[in-house]
Formats: sequence, structure tokens, C-alpha cells
Amino acid sequence: MMHYTIAVVPGDGIGPEVTSQAVAAMKKAGEKYGMEFTFNTVKAGGAAIDEFGECLPQHTIDVCKSSDAVLLGAVGGPKWDALPGEQRPEKALLGLRKSLGLYANLRPAMVFPELADASPLKPEILSQGLDLLIVRELTGGIYFGERGHKETDMGYAAYDIEQYSVGEIQRIAKIAFSMAQKRRGKVSSVDKANVLDTSRLWRKTVAEMSKDYPDVELNNFYVDNASMQLVRDPSQFDVILTSNLFGDILSDEASQITGSIGMLPSASLGEGNFGMYEPVHGSAPDIAGTGKANPMAAILSAAMLLRFTLDQKEAADAIENAVKQFLKDGYRTADLAGGADACSTEETGRLICERIQ
Ligand code: NAD
Ligand code: IPM
Ligand code: MN
Repeated sequence: MMHYTIAVVPGDGIGPEVTSQAVAAMKKAGEKYGMEFTFNTVKAGGAAIDEFGECLPQHTIDVCKSSDAVLLGAVGGPKWDALPGEQRPEKALLGLRKSLGLYANLRPAMVFPELADASPLKPEILSQGLDLLIVRELTGGIYFGERGHKETDMGYAAYDIEQYSVGEIQRIAKIAFSMAQKRRGKVSSVDKANVLDTSRLWRKTVAEMSKDYPDVELNNFYVDNASMQLVRDPSQFDVILTSNLFGDILSDEASQITGSIGMLPSASLGEGNFGMYEPVHGSAPDIAGTGKANPMAAILSAAMLLRFTLDQKEAADAIENAVKQFLKDGYRTADLAGGADACSTEETGRLICERIQ
């Protein structure tokens, strides 16, 4: 029997609703595949502000660091939107990523055939296939650059600086190239090299690195074109390598192509096996507490945890297959149902757990 310790950060809004279903799926997979988990639940984001007066208590960081992996829901919500940037719930997420050294964010997007109807793309576009992996740089760029305020001749101004070092670009590019080697051998690097110096350094560094990966085809896209190509013909993409900000935007776009943002999981990795796993979506304050949240992104994030951090491939497959079977059996969550009958968050979790074999 393998024993693992998982830090659970449910967060705000629908975060706790979807993470509890992901935890249930892990427990079920544990029973089937000889794993025992200790789940240590800690607070971050708005929940931590309300209880401790700060969005990311040191205790939360310590518990995460001493665990095998972290499972996170989502943070943020209108209740805390008026707080200064440094105190907002979202700062907790950035702080966790930075303090845990998680510079690589993997966001796979694929269409489950059963959900083709839920995608806004025409069937003839979707039938070309959609199975891509966004490799998003996660601890650098404009999210973490110098920022401030100053007076200008046009009045008070705010600024955020985008900065990338060669080392930061190399380490994320390395992940993208090695992922492509295990997939369809294609990296599309997305930047804005026609305008930004950071992007020109990005493009040059990625091109140099590609020499070490002769089996991987590299092509470059400007981000505006990439966002258009994603809806014109998503089948042309295998691995998309991009910066923190562009990756954030493109992954929400990719999620909707798959049918709903409620389907997209993510893994945040650094050196070693440790990782933080969370859905791509946010805390969805508009549906929090209604039982309408789709827990599949969170459940699929748990499967990524088993696969990437714990190397429990069979258990990960079992969870992913259970999600597929739930959809094959005709069940839908509200975001996917298009007005038809929908399963609640809890029902969805239960029906998926029943299908974990
Ligand atoms: P969001 O992803 O929370 O919601 C966007 C839309 O998608 C909403 O209509 C929502 O109802 C729907 N949606 C999202 N997840 C869903 C799910 N699982 N099932 C069904 N529908 C779902 O994005 P937003 O509204 O821009 O942000 C809300 C809050 O979440 C903000 O405070 C934002 O900063 C935060 N946020 C947090 C994270 C995170 O913690 N990882 C990610 C994104 C946004
Ligand atoms: C995400 C979120 C976060 C990000 C926010 C909440 C800080 O949108 O994980 O996609 O921009 O990285
Ligand atoms: Mn986002």
C-alpha cells in the first residue's frame, strides 16, 4: 500500500464544491489501486483573508511544501475585488506558484467526442481533431515584473513590466520540446516578436534550443494570429509554448473549444515530481452554491496529479476513463447540457466515482 500526503486548497466560490469531488475520486482510485491518502486541507485566497486577514498564510505554504502534491480549487470573488493588488485572493495563487517553484503550467485541451455538440466550432472543423497541450510559463513575465504608479502628462499612470531571462525561457522551452517528443512532435511557440523585445528574446532562445530536438518541428506564431488559428483550425496545434500572460488567455479560449471551461485541468510543475493541480477555470461566483459547477476539470486535475507527481498511471487512466464513461452514458453538467437535464456537482462526482474501475 502506497501512502501519500496531499495538500488541498479548496479556495473560494465553486473551488470547495469541485475539489471535494476531486478528493472523492482520488479516494476511490486509492481503494482500487492500493493507495492511501492523507488530505491536509488549508486555506488560501478569500477564505484565508476572511479567517486570518491575509491571502496566503505561511502555514499554508508550509503544508503545501511538506506534501507530495497540492490540489487547488480556485480563488477570488467579488467580495475581495476592491482590495489592493498585493492583498487580493489571486495574489495567493501567484505566491503559491512562485514559492513552490512551479514555473511550468501544462494545460491539455482535447475534445471528448461526446461533447462535440457543446463546442461552438462547426463539426467539420472539430472533425479534424483537437488534442493540444498548452505549456505556459508560470512564474515570470508581466505577472511578476516590476510594477508601480507614477504621474505623467496624461495624469496618474500605472505600469507592469514584462521581463524574461534566457534561463527562464530555456527551462520552459525544454518542457515543451520534451512533451512534444512524447506527443506528435510539434511545438508552436507563441509570442509578439513583431513588437516586444521579450518576445524577440523568447523566439531567439527557443530557436536555439530547438537544435537539440531535431525530431521536433518548431514553428512560431504571433499571439494575435495564434488566437485566430485556434478557432480556424485547432488541429494544427500539438504543443503550444507561450508566456504567462498569453498562456492564460489562450487556455481559456482553448477550453471553450472543447465544450466548456469546466472540462479543462492543469498541472503546475517545477524541478522534481512535486506539483500543484487545479482546474483552468476560476471560482465562478455567478454559480457558486447552486450545485451547477462542473467538477470534471477538478477531477481530471486529480488524474494529472496521479500521473505526473505520483507516477500512478493506471489510477490516472481509471479516473479519465470514468469521466469518459460518464459522458458516454449520456450524463451532462449544466454548462454542457444546453438546456436539457443536467447533473449537479455532487451527482456528477458520485456517478464518476462509481465508474472508477
Ligand atoms: P471563471 O472561470 O470563474 O468563470 C467564467 C465563466 O465560466 C462563468 O460564467 C462561470 O460560471 C463559468 N464556469 C467557470 N468554471 C465553471 C465550472 N466548473 N462549471 C460550470 N461553469 C463554470 O472566471 P471569472 O468569472 O473571470 O473569474 C471569477 C473569479 O475567479 C475571479 O476572482 C478570478 O480572479 C478568479 N479566477 C481564479 C482562478 C484560479 O484560482 N485558478 C482562475 C481564473 C479566475
Ligand atoms: C489562471 C487564473 C490566474 C492566472 C489568476 C486567478 C491569477 O486566471 O490560473 O488561469 O492568471 O494565472
Ligand atoms: Mn486564467
